[in-house]
Amino acid sequence: MAGESRPGATTSDDRPQRRPRVVLGVSGGIAAYKACELLRRLTESGHDVTVVPTAAALEFVGAPTWAALSGKPVASDVWHDVHQVPHVRIGQAADLVLVAPATADVLAKAAHGLADDLLSNTLLTARCPVVFAPAMHTEMWEHPATQENVATLRRRGALVIEPAEGRLTGADTGKGRFPEPAEIFEVGRDVLARARSANLLDLAGRHVLVSAGGTREYLDPVRFLGNRSSGRQGYALARAAAARGAEVTLAAANVSLPDPAGVKVVHVETTAELRDAVLAGTSTADAVVMAAAPADYRPSTVSETKIKKADDGSAGSLALEQNPDILAQISHDRVRLGAVIVGFAAETGDETASVLDLARAKLLRKGCDLLVVNDVSGGKVFGSTDNEAVVLDADGTATPVPHGSKAALAHVVWDQVVARLDRLPG
Ligand code: CTP
Repeated sequence: MAGESRPGATTSDDRPQRRPRVVLGVSGGIAAYKACELLRRLTESGHDVTVVPTAAALEFVGAPTWAALSGKPVASDVWHDVHQVPHVRIGQAADLVLVAPATADVLAKAAHGLADDLLSNTLLTARCPVVFAPAMHTEMWEHPATQENVATLRRRGALVIEPAEGRLTGADTGKGRFPEPAEIFEVGRDVLARARSANLLDLAGRHVLVSAGGTREYLDPVRFLGNRSSGRQGYALARAAAARGAEVTLAAANVSLPDPAGVKVVHVETTAELRDAVLAGTSTADAVVMAAAPADYRPSTVSETKIKKADDGSAGSLALEQNPDILAQISHDRVRLGAVIVGFAAETGDETASVLDLARAKLLRKGCDLLVVNDVSGGKVFGSTDNEAVVLDADGTATPVPHGSKAALAHVVWDQVVARLDRLPG
């Protein structure tokens, strides 16, 4: 499916740009109402969207809503405008088919090639990338029938996003929640941007672990030592890996960004908690990317009660001890042979050494395979949506990444991780 030639898609760079054609398939779950937000984001960002709801989806959100938001007529059966052969044309012309929400029923139909309505016909005729964002109750998601259907679809090249954990339709919570529409939109956009890659889902079957954010080291219940890391680069890495088909665990230290779609997020606060979360994943992870900024030091003691200001005006003092270096530890231990370990280095050069000299020394010291080097002189990078870096490889090569989005840098990192994993024998 992914990576095959796509009728209707642009095939030459010098052809005039046209709006990317997205089919938004909506199946009959309560999360259909959230797909309105997804549709809005798609149309507002310049996509030409055809909504194909199932009959059950129309029980939740009516055709006028889809028609008004997409600016196009909407049908769920194959008997409208038959002279235009919609059951074939819509799928053939698409650059991306995004089924969100995808119910257990639609996943089963797609896996078995049934074609009894417009959406299932579209899924059979589409030759573009297909993304499913499942949403259902935990029992339905975990049922072997659903799991086998998901495995079949993934084997055939579809991207099936792992549902989120959280509140479900009723009072219950669990896995099966529809991820945030804005995050599903990001996955769709990412897949479209890479639709012509030779291997769109080159991280499929891989487990990757990413850390993000800045740790906090508490002095007392209300005060902590922290740093300015926003977590954006780590989140961009997690998002990009999920869009490339990986099973992604994200250890997030004090990040206030929404959970990326399809990513298992483990929230931590301190460096000790971050280390536990990272070590828990190293036996299964094919790649570990340490984009977090763990505090190097923590207070030697943590007061259980709020520390009071001294009456005599004295400043007091703070005794610190060093935190464990997680990156150095996992690089040294190498729990999983062949796993690619990536570090980040925020450096400022000085009169004695350049940023790259310092970074090369750090790569050796830490023992990781790749080091992504940011020049942060003057507060650059922190909190910004853009980044500029050099990726140093332990084999001595250096890949400059020009100024661009954190998502773009994330993809360069994964390109290099994939290249290293592919070089492994067997
Ligand atoms: N890192 C880590 N554990 C720590 C500190 C840092 O795993 N306790 C990781 C970061 O996630 C990052 C890399 O190490 O991937 C570089 O972090 P940096 O703080 O720049 O390295 P330091 O060893 O602290 O170097 P410096 O001597 O420049 O402070």
